[in-house]
Amino acid sequence: MILLANSEAWPGFDKTVELLKLNACGIDAMIAGISEVEREIKVRSVGYGGWPNMLGKMELDAGVMDGTTREVGSVGAVPDTLPVAALAHEVMKRLPHVMLTGEGARRFATEIGFPVDEVLCEDSKRVWWERLERELSTDERKAFPDIALAPLSRTITDPERVRDTTVFLAQDFAKGIHAVTSTSGWAWKYPGRLGDSPIPGAGFYADSRYGAAACTHTGEMTMRCGTARSIVLALRLGYSLREAVDMAMEDLAQLKTGFLAGVVIHAIDAWGNHDVASFQCPQEIKYWFWEPKMANPEKRIARKYDLQHTT
Ligand code: GLY
Repeated sequence: MILLANSEAWPGFDKTVELLKLNACGIDAMIAGISEVEREIKVRSVGYGGWPNMLGKMELDAGVMDGTTREVGSVGAVPDTLPVAALAHEVMKRLPHVMLTGEGARRFATEIGFPVDEVLCEDSKRVWWERLERELSTDERKAFPDIALAPLSRTITDPERVRDTTVFLAQDFAKGIHAVTSTSGWAWKYPGRLGDSPIPGAGFYADSRYGAAACTHTGEMTMRCGTARSIVLALRLGYSLREAVDMAMEDLAQLKTGFLAGVVIHAIDAWGNHDVASFQCPQEIKYWFWEPKMANPEKRIARKYDLQHTT
């Protein structure tokens, strides 16, 4: 057994560990943990504590992958709903589809009994408007929201605050390797923007035979590189976990155009190894790790990927 998650996972990591110890299915254990993260106002990138889009509306993204069946459920730009990772799981279990977005996802949530939740907290609302107001002319302020948003989308972002996520990867007692993600996405994003967290192959991927990977930070880059899938495919081709992550990093490092910023890759393999590496992140990145021989989960420091030292 193994559990790996990013630093935002703290409100739910212990719960997931307890459930894994009781031989719960890894997906159920991770959904229970991520639901706690989504409800925690102090986690400022996921669920209730997250950030709204440019119109001040919360649009949440989440994904779930069962690495044994390779079934996926995901939801994108979902309004008024918590917990959305649990909703993504229901998409996987109940529908012939992989992904629902926006009003369709909310409709499905209502049909299966999820309440309509207030997901924008007062502090996020205040920060959202204060930042937006600084960018708007007097005329634009009066006309808002009937103004062109596209010109704002390049100027208003705060790269260090706004693109985090929570990601959980587990190998459970039955050797099933699974992935779950959840995020409010990029703050002040253009309405309808999806990041990588609901996109299988980019923000997450799992295959119980080989391993799993999930990304945080700039989804605009991992979607272009198919990052999570590329790591699991490299494991299948016989590369070590470290080599697989470094090759994915090399792909990201070769992007020269478009929106470029930091990415963090979290990965586990089917043989009990894990790796967390950051690319172009100025700050130190930490993550949570647990395996049965440890008395308690540990918060550890991710390695910084260095293009010079790749194989
Ligand atoms: N990785 C989260 C996002 O890009 O929304």
